[in-house]
Amino acid sequence: MKTTSPSKISPAISASSPSSRPPAVLIDEAGKTYGDVEAVRPLSLTIRPGETVALLGPSGSGKTTLLSMIAGELEPSDGSIHLRGRNLADLHPGRELSREVGMIHQQYDLVPNLSALQNVLAGRLGDWGLVKSVVSLLWPQDRQMGLTALERVGVSDRARVRAGLLSGGEQQRVAVARLLVQNPAIIVADEPVSSLDPARADEVMGILTEAARKAGKTLVATVHSTDVARTYFERLIGLRNGAREFDLPSHLVTDDQLNDLYALEGLRDE
Ligand SMILES: Nc1ncnc2c1ncn2[C@@H]1O[C@H](COP(=O)(O)OP(=O)(O)OP(=O)(O)O)[C@@H](O)[C@H]1O
Ligand SMILES: [Mg+2]
Repeated sequence: MKTTSPSKISPAISASSPSSRPPAVLIDEAGKTYGDVEAVRPLSLTIRPGETVALLGPSGSGKTTLLSMIAGELEPSDGSIHLRGRNLADLHPGRELSREVGMIHQQYDLVPNLSALQNVLAGRLGDWGLVKSVVSLLWPQDRQMGLTALERVGVSDRARVRAGLLSGGEQQRVAVARLLVQNPAIIVADEPVSSLDPARADEVMGILTEAARKAGKTLVATVHSTDVARTYFERLIGLRNGAREFDLPSHLVTDDQLNDLYALEGLRDE
């Protein structure tokens, strides 16, 4: 891997104040089309390090597509995306990418035959060599780290249970714990609390946003509940038909803007 020696880093870049750091996410006219469908129309946006951003919008508005592009799982049809100053397209898909960004998927994607703890430890695979990774599936390594993460999301008593036997909500918590162990700079979460009852949804969103804040991580998530979005995120971006409708600090987003975002076509205030 190529590294830059400290003497070659300019003072402006090496200073640690947030303003001198490159943006966590820099999207430059990136978009995605599938045949005739413009899932995300080319858009540009900048997300600061440590910022918590919620993407809102009706079903099919392009939220998952945009998140998948930020997570490096989907290549944009146009434009480019930089994470912390580096072009995503240049990052090595294994270790390099997993240090920069980790994604919790809408359908949490645990391995059903592995225990909750083994799934959580899989978050370390980006850091481990192949041999250690394979061994870990037989004999979990860094067990304590995994258990601590499970404890933080409130399911340490499920550590030995096969993921396929866990409830939807428990699986979502395990997916959050896995990401805490992966420890990427940028957390991308696609409806991380969608299968939880309202009280649990609040709790898990609290855990996720608090963990992100404490560790200075950038968090970009889609959330169905506008209340949850306003409570836990400092910035809200509204998407509709693959285009940005608003991009505002959450306290400035009005009920009218939210109602309009989700309104059925033909019932909108233009
Ligand atoms: N692989 C694909 N092939 C073709 N079209 C796709 C594909 N993935 C997404 N789309 C289309 O792109 C648009 C945006 O989809 P996306 O999944 O990003 O929406 P979303 O906002 O996440 O919706 P939801 O709230 O239902 O999860 C939709 O019209 C969808 O049908
Ligand atoms: Mg989606």
